[in-house]
This record gives sequence, structure tokens and C-alpha cells, in this order.
Amino acid sequence: MIPLLDVAELEVRFPVRQKAGLARRTPSFVHAVDDVSLTVAAGETVGLVGESGCGKSTLARTLCRLIDATAGSIRLEGREIVDTHVRRAAKAPWRGDIQLVFQDALDAINPRMTAFQAIADPLKRLRGVRSGPELTATVTEVAASCGIAETLLGRFPHQLSGGQRARVGIARAIACRPKLLVLDEPTAALDVSVQVVILQLLARLKRELGMSYVFVSHDLNVVRMFCDRIIVMYLGKIVEIGPADEVFRHPRHPYTRALIQAIPSGIPGAAPQAVIEGEAKSPIDPNPNACRFVGRCPNEERRCSEAAPPFVSLSRTHQARCHLLRGSE
Ligand SMILES: Nc1ncnc2c1ncn2[C@@H]1O[C@H](COP(=O)(O)OP(=O)(O)OP(=O)(O)O)[C@@H](O)[C@H]1O
Ligand SMILES: [Mg+2]
Repeated sequence: MIPLLDVAELEVRFPVRQKAGLARRTPSFVHAVDDVSLTVAAGETVGLVGESGCGKSTLARTLCRLIDATAGSIRLEGREIVDTHVRRAAKAPWRGDIQLVFQDALDAINPRMTAFQAIADPLKRLRGVRSGPELTATVTEVAASCGIAETLLGRFPHQLSGGQRARVGIARAIACRPKLLVLDEPTAALDVSVQVVILQLLARLKRELGMSYVFVSHDLNVVRMFCDRIIVMYLGKIVEIGPADEVFRHPRHPYTRALIQAIPSGIPGAAPQAVIEGEAKSPIDPNPNACRFVGRCPNEERRCSEAAPPFVSLSRTHQARCHLLRGSE
């Protein structure tokens, strides 16, 4: 069966501006997303984790075609969408099927739009619904399903609380009934009690509307609870991918292990867990013939600096990119 989303060898590079007088013959690039292949099945929730700057938002935005890819393929229900230029993609018929929920709802909502207008906007733009009773009824219904009272619909973003804005951001994203919702740290800007409520809302909407989620988060506990599969990124590359439960119980890549060991236990007085030392290398023109984790890896060997590690299949559904792993097949 064709997966809902099928991404192959995706690459996103940003040119680095050269300082005046330092013009080099070969331009430099930030390798924000490098050789990323993944699938998302209908109804599946895939978690995307990794430290700040590893390329999660760039990947999320590229999937929703808000950023042009440098190379690779993105197929939505078998249809190639990577070639459509960002400006065209904004109005493409499939654009309503894949929607992004931004980390901060303020990024998604035009400050001059009321909550009503913000939710109505994608319906008008992507589904061709005209202003009138049908639009009003749909917006009111979508808002209600996200817990937004009708009295709030006339308010501008700055007149809403963070939690209310998050709800408007979600309502706007689901208004077109997308098949895939890409959520870029949807609760990061909220306090803990509101985070729980928003996560419950997202879980309910997923059940009711049968959507698939790509769920970007810093919070590994949330990812474990919420996701069927997990993808771990490090400096633009996927280093481990597998069923969430399996990855959490038996992380195989040293970076994933460190991430999981660093999860706060929640036990008062418990000793702090090991965290990865040092900083990640620069994402600008990384060495193609070395593992990106070199310099921070506790198990590093000479070959790690001499060749990029291949993906090793640990089971039918679990893979990691490390020289030191042996495959199951
Ligand atoms: N428009 C851009 N131009 C140049 N470099 C960029 C651009 N957008 C992102 N980057 C770089 O790409 C890399 C990945 O950034 P990205 O925002 O995707 O990381 P992230 O994993 O989402 O981080 P965070 O967890 O902090 O949100 C970073 O090195 C960043 O500086
Ligand atoms: Mg980000």
C-alpha cells in the first residue's frame, strides 16, 4: 500500500553569506536536512526529536512545502510535491491535505486577522469556500471542536491567551480537514498545565478526524506517550528510526542513548543523568566522510572519522546509523 507520506533522500541546504573580502571559490552551505528518508502511514503518529539546530523545523517546513528542498522527493499519497515552487505550493490543491501547526501560534496567525478570519483564511484560499453562511458555520464548528468559544472568534491574536492562540493555530490547521498534520513543538510556548490540555485536544482530534501526525518535540516523555514511531535527528541526518517503545527500551545509537538517559526521572533528589558533553559540530559544510557525532561519541573509533556510517537494520522496523552496530539480517 502507498504510504500517506513518502520522503526519499531529502536534502535542504541554505547558502552561507560570505564576509566581504573573503569570497571563496566554492560557496558554503548549512546542511540543515541531509539524506532524510521516512514514511508516514495513514493514521500514524511519528515523533521527531533531536537537539536544537538539528533540522527539525526545517524538515517540518519543507514537508509542508514552506521551504524549497535542494534535492530529494516528497510524495503525498503517491503524488510528487517536491517540485512545486513554494509560492505555487501555497495555493496547490493538495496544500490543504498537509498542514503545519507552528511552535508559536503567533507565527501562524496574521496579527490583523481575528480568530474567525484566521480559521476562515485556509478554507477560502485552499478549499474555495466563499464568505457566507457556509463559511461561518464551518468556522464555528471547527472552532468549537478545538474548544474555542464563539465569543472569542472576534478577537485579534494579542487579545487571546497563549492557550487560546494555540487552539486557534490548531483550528486553522485542521479547518481544511488535512490528512497529515505536521506539529512543530506545538506546546513549547505554553505552561505545563496548558500543555497537557492541548496534547489531549490533539489526541482527540486525531481520533475523531483520522489524521496522521508528524510530531516535533523536545519532550521525550511526550513523544513516548504520543507517538507510534520515533525519528532521532542529529546535525541534519536521521541517526535512528523505529517503533517508539522499542527505541525507548533499547536505544541503539549512542546519541539516542544519551538523549534517553538525560530524560528527567521526575524523582525528587534523584542524581542528574549523564548528558552529552560538548557542542555539536558546525552544520556548515560538514565532512561527508565522517560520522556527524564524532567528537561527542563515547564509543568513537578511527573508522568513524574516515567514513559516514551506513544505516544498519536492527529489526524489520528499527534502523540506526552507526559503524559499531551489527544488523539483524
Ligand atoms: N533560512 C535559513 N538560512 C540559513 N540557515 C538556516 C535557515 N533556517 C535554518 N537554518 C539553519 O539550519 C539548521 C537547522 O535549523 P532548524 O531551525 O531546522 O533546527 P531545529 O532542530 O528546529 O532547532 P530548534 O530545536 O532550536 O527549533 C540550523 O543550523 C539553522 O541555523
Ligand atoms: Mg525548531
